[in-house]
Amino acid sequence: MRLKIVAGNWKMNLDFEEAEDLISAIADELENIDLGHAEVVICPPFPYLEMALDIAIESVFSVGAQNISHFDNGAYTGEVSARMLASMDVDYCIVGHSERRKYFNETDEIIAKKIDQAIEHEFITIFCCGELLSERQAGKHFDVVREQIEKAVFPLSEKEFYNIVIAYEPVWAIGTGVNATPEQAQEMHAYIRNLIASRYGKDVADETSILYGGSCNSKNAPEIFAQPDVDGGLIGGASLNADEFIEIVKAIL
Ligand code: PGA
Repeated sequence: MRLKIVAGNWKMNLDFEEAEDLISAIADELENIDLGHAEVVICPPFPYLEMALDIAIESVFSVGAQNISHFDNGAYTGEVSARMLASMDVDYCIVGHSERRKYFNETDEIIAKKIDQAIEHEFITIFCCGELLSERQAGKHFDVVREQIEKAVFPLSEKEFYNIVIAYEPVWAIGTGVNATPEQAQEMHAYIRNLIASRYGKDVADETSILYGGSCNSKNAPEIFAQPDVDGGLIGGASLNADEFIEIVKAIL
């Protein structure tokens, strides 16, 4: 049975005290929930990872980084390497988010290098893909997503691919309040799973978690997560409120 995951991507929000309060509140609420075969991941900004990891020791959630360097080690001012994060026992990382592509000029080539770093250091890697509104309107959304996946992820061997989680995040849905409909999400997730099956075989595809992201909240999550190929969500804005986030977590159970 494939893993159900809800991951909170805090992006560049919250000061230290707010972050500590939020993560403590989430940990408190998780005490009353049986996650069963499901995983909750919190991805705070880098400076809060250690605090999050300390709280995670006593809780059931995992901790992820929002980004990693595509370089291995050395004179790269301001970068944070996969090796550093692995040495802190961070389990997850997000790679290929559309905000990284847009604001930091991350190309498919750079993202592929980040994936290599992440896989080398044994992260469970949440790889984000998704089309722009103009690409959907032009009917190119399947091609765009296929290319992103083929370039960044499909060079991996089957063994390496085992640590990949795909997050389908249509760019037009991120932070806009306009989520993909459950039907749009299901259609793309099924397409992605077929792609994976054609590259790695059906067994691997059936085991791959494919998350939906983009204006997901406690109201729309139940219907979106009920789709057969949607295995949870990557949550931005709604992960900044403990009660809201926990309601979304309950929607995968
Ligand atoms: P959103 O962001 O939930 O605020 O739309 C999702 C994401 O970017 O991962």
